[in-house]
Amino acid sequence: MRRPLIAGNWKMNLDRAQAVELAKSLVAPAAGLSGVDLVVCPPNVYLDAVAGVVRGSKVGLGAQNMYYEKSGAFTGETSTDMLKDVGCQWVILGHSERRNIFHESDGEINKKTLAALAAGLIPIVCVGELLAEREEGRTAEVIRTQFDGSLAGLSAEQLTKAVIAYEPVWAIGTGRVASPEQAEEVHADLRKLIERRYNAATAQSVRILYGGSVKPSNAKELLGQPDVDGALVGGASLKAADFLGIAAGAT
Ligand code: PGA
Repeated sequence: MRRPLIAGNWKMNLDRAQAVELAKSLVAPAAGLSGVDLVVCPPNVYLDAVAGVVRGSKVGLGAQNMYYEKSGAFTGETSTDMLKDVGCQWVILGHSERRNIFHESDGEINKKTLAALAAGLIPIVCVGELLAEREEGRTAEVIRTQFDGSLAGLSAEQLTKAVIAYEPVWAIGTGRVASPEQAEEVHADLRKLIERRYNAATAQSVRILYGGSVKPSNAKELLGQPDVDGALVGGASLKAADFLGIAAGAT
């Protein structure tokens, strides 16, 4: 059985006090939730402060990005060791904002994914089509290309440790959520891709999250789909009640 995972991507939001406050308001309720993993991904500069709040609790800590080199002259970047040093266990990679605003390629995302796994971090690797690509009927092809490129060279064991997030770009921050059927179709396709490249057991064990305008009001139906194993939540993760409401929909 795949254990549901609800991850909050705080993006470039909140100040230090708000980040600490939000983390604090999740810790006690999280202790009462069973059968679901919760992770928060604050901006890098607040990771340390949030780590101090969530350490020893049921709330995991993740970063929103990282670089694949170990150390050196890479101005502005953060290494896997640095993330682990401040208490991260998770890292989001290849988010559509990284792909589309910062022009990250599947090749770079692949290097980051392999580096994260080698360092013992759990990568949440994002894939998703643009609106135009969906309208042109190219969703399956785009997802396959991103899957093949971003997750190239992983052993079955490595893939089992990773998490995939399907985030249709047209649903991110737009309030226009994918229907449960649209989400399930892509999730099932991803599982078939895994089965074809690896085997059925690996396909059945990889967690595939949905992301894009997830709210407490639509979470239960999305999370009830057979191949949807959790959610990557942006806007609604900035309010404790909403994030916890989504997590409740997973149990
Ligand atoms: P959203 O963002 O929930 O605000 O749509 C999702 C994401 O970007 O991960």
